[in-house]
Formats: sequence, structure tokens, C-alpha cells
Amino acid sequence: MKDKSLISITDFSTEEILRILEIAAEFESNPQPHLLDGKVVATLFFEPSTRTRLSFESAVNRMGGRVIGFSDPNASSVSKGETLKDTVRMVSNYCDLIVMRHPLEGSSRYASEVATVPVINAGDGANQHPTQTLLDMYSIKKTQGRLDNINIFMVGDLKYGRTVHSLLMAMAPFNPTFNFISHPKLKMPDEYKLFLDQKGVKYYEHQEFTDIISQADIIYMTRVQRERFSDLMEYEKTKDTYVLRNSMLANTKPTMRILHPLPRINEINQDVDQNPKAYYFDQARNGVFARQAVISAVLGLKS
Ligand code: CP
Repeated sequence: MKDKSLISITDFSTEEILRILEIAAEFESNPQPHLLDGKVVATLFFEPSTRTRLSFESAVNRMGGRVIGFSDPNASSVSKGETLKDTVRMVSNYCDLIVMRHPLEGSSRYASEVATVPVINAGDGANQHPTQTLLDMYSIKKTQGRLDNINIFMVGDLKYGRTVHSLLMAMAPFNPTFNFISHPKLKMPDEYKLFLDQKGVKYYEHQEFTDIISQADIIYMTRVQRERFSDLMEYEKTKDTYVLRNSMLANTKPTMRILHPLPRINEINQDVDQNPKAYYFDQARNGVFARQAVISAVLGLKS
């Protein structure tokens, strides 16, 4: 994985993904505070973020590296009209690795083509969020003891939610069953269903899920992505379609866990937080280990 950019989760083979999960577990049990001594990582965030940016920066700091970058593009020369191409070429001179989030789909792939250092996609529009997928898989493996034969309920904004797109692609080799629960206007896009069809993966689409919730191993809740709607009336109509409440969890498997990439708005009621099946805050913590693993693999410090 040395010098490899990570733009789509499919840039890593299943074997490489499994190796990243092993390395993440090594970091969780054995922090390596000097592994990145002398290395500089640039975090270029053209869109807001709490978890992704801060967990990347925490990961670098915990391994002894240094972070440069911006979280507000208006504080960079982008605000003067500098192109993405020039920005990325310049920043390549100052660092060993670029982590980038951008609202345009395909922007991270483009950045990887003009950069002279590896690029990690921290989310490009509604397209992909591959490091979120790695921490999601790490969380699934940690809570279920396996990746194979997991019944995953994906609930909410399956159209614009980039995390569900990356996750279904990466889980496809492990014989999952997917249940997609969404408002008709926010259904899983056809291209991802076609991908699953080609891989022979089972999936079912629903508008309700309370009658089948007992089958779930993982309930993956998602926020309706307000920032992706061109018509905010559509957002208002769809935003509160699904609200997971503690009372709905009575008939779920004891081993079932609730994931959410966060931030949440209303889709998980706060009364769920105390339920031992709520795993989303631990999931966010796992992001540090997964990102340590990706950074160290791409920089050739772990193989
Ligand atoms: N999960 C996630 O991408 O969160 P942030 O938008 O806060 O980075």
C-alpha cells in the first residue's frame, strides 16, 4: 500500500482492507508514539468536519508526526481564486501525505492525479468516504467478531450518504445481506444496486423496518444530508422520516449494534444513547486507530 492514494474504497483490495483492520487493532493495543517522527501530513478541508479532520490529526499527533492545513478554505488562497490543481501541487511540496475533503465528487481523484504525494479522500461530495468505511468495518468486526454473513440495515439518506456507498462496496465480498430503508426520494442509487447485483449480494428495499428489526446485526443510521439538496423543501419533507427510539430496540438481537457516522440530527433519539446497543461514539473513537493504520500503510511504515 506504500505510496498508494486512497480515493475509493475499491482502491484497496479485500486483502489490503483486512490488513488495515489488523494494523488498526495493533495501534489500539500498542500505540506507537514515534512512528511518524519527521513526517508532515496536510489536512485540506474544503467542507466542514469534526470527526474526520480531528481523528486524522489526532492519529498523526499520536504517532509523533506534524499536521499542516486548513479547515476553512476562505483562510487559504483558494479564496483569491487559486485552483484546486495549483493548491494541491503547492501543498505537495510541504508534506508527505495529503488528506482532503471537498464538496465535488471526483475532486479527490483529480487531486491524486496532480499531487506528488499520496492523497487520502476524506469525503468527496455524495461519492465516497473510504476511511469512514474502514472504521465502520473495524467496528463491525470488533462488535460482531466477524465480517462474514452480517445482516446490515442501512437507514435514512441512502441517496446522498457517501458512507453507505463506500461501506456496501467493501462489505460485498463477505456475503452480507443488506436491508435498505429510506424515503422513496432518498433510495440507494441504481449504480450501487447494480454493483450488488453483479456481485450476487442480497438486498431488500423497505420504507418501514420495525417489523423486521429483529433480523438486524447492524443498524446503520444516517443523517439526511441537507447540504446536498438543491431544493430545501425536499429536505424538509424527508428529514424526519426515521427516528430510532429506545422503545423500538426491545426485540433486537442482544449482539445487535447501532452505528452512525455522525453527526446525528434527529434520526437517533437521545434515549438510545444509554442502551448498550448504541455503539456510535465508540465507532468514532475507532476512527483514530483506522486512520493511524491507513496513514502508516500509505507512508510505507507498516505493511
Ligand atoms: N463521519 C464524518 O465524516 O463526520 P464529520 O463530517 O464530522 O467528519
